[in-house]
Amino acid sequence: MMVSVEKLVEGLRSISDKEFTCDNVYQFLGENQVEVGTISRYFFWSERCYTRNLIYKDARFELMAICWEKGQVSRVHNHSEQKCWMTVPVGKLRGQNFRAVEIDEEKGFCRLEETDRFDLSECLAAKVELEEPIHQVLNLPEFDERAVSLHIYSKPYDKCLSYCRDTDTFKEVPLFYTSIGGKLCDGITL
Ligand code: SIN
Repeated sequence: MMVSVEKLVEGLRSISDKEFTCDNVYQFLGENQVEVGTISRYFFWSERCYTRNLIYKDARFELMAICWEKGQVSRVHNHSEQKCWMTVPVGKLRGQNFRAVEIDEEKGFCRLEETDRFDLSECLAAKVELEEPIHQVLNLPEFDERAVSLHIYSKPYDKCLSYCRDTDTFKEVPLFYTSIGGKLCDGITL
C-alpha cells in the first residue's frame, strides 16, 4: 500500500511501545510504502556530504530523509545500541555490514571485517541487526543516480560510533540535522 508520510507517521505512532519491535516496524514499513511526492519538501542536496533531514521526532523515534548525491557514502558506524530501520524510496543504495574481530575499548582500537551486504531500492525495508550493528551505506558511483533513504531511529539519538578502517580506530562523533521540518537549520550552507 502506498501512503503519505503523514499516514506513515500516524501508523508508527499508533504502534504500542511493547509492539515497537525490530520485526514489527520492519513489517509495517514493508506494508506501508511512502509516496515520494509527500516527502519531497524534505529533500536537500549537497555536493559535500549526504544530508540528514528531520521529518518527525518524539521521545520514542525519529524519522529522517537522507539525501545522497551520486557516489556519497556514510561513515562506517554503529547506532549506539538503538534500533534502526531504513527504506529507499528514491534510487538505490548498498548496505554493507561489518563485524568487530578485535576490539580494545579503552584504546579505541577496533579491527573490522566485512560481512553481508544488501542493495535497497523501491521502498524495500531493512533493519539493522542488533547482533551486528556496524554498517555503512553507500550510493555507489555505478548506481549513477541520486538516492533518498528514509530512516527510523528508536530512540532518537545525536551521536554514533564512527570507525576508521585505515587506522583500526573508533570514536564517538556528534550527528547533526541539515534541515528540520523542511527548513534548513541555522548555519547550514549546502
Ligand atoms: C546517518 O544517520 O547519518 C547515517 C545513516 C546510515 O548510514 O545508516
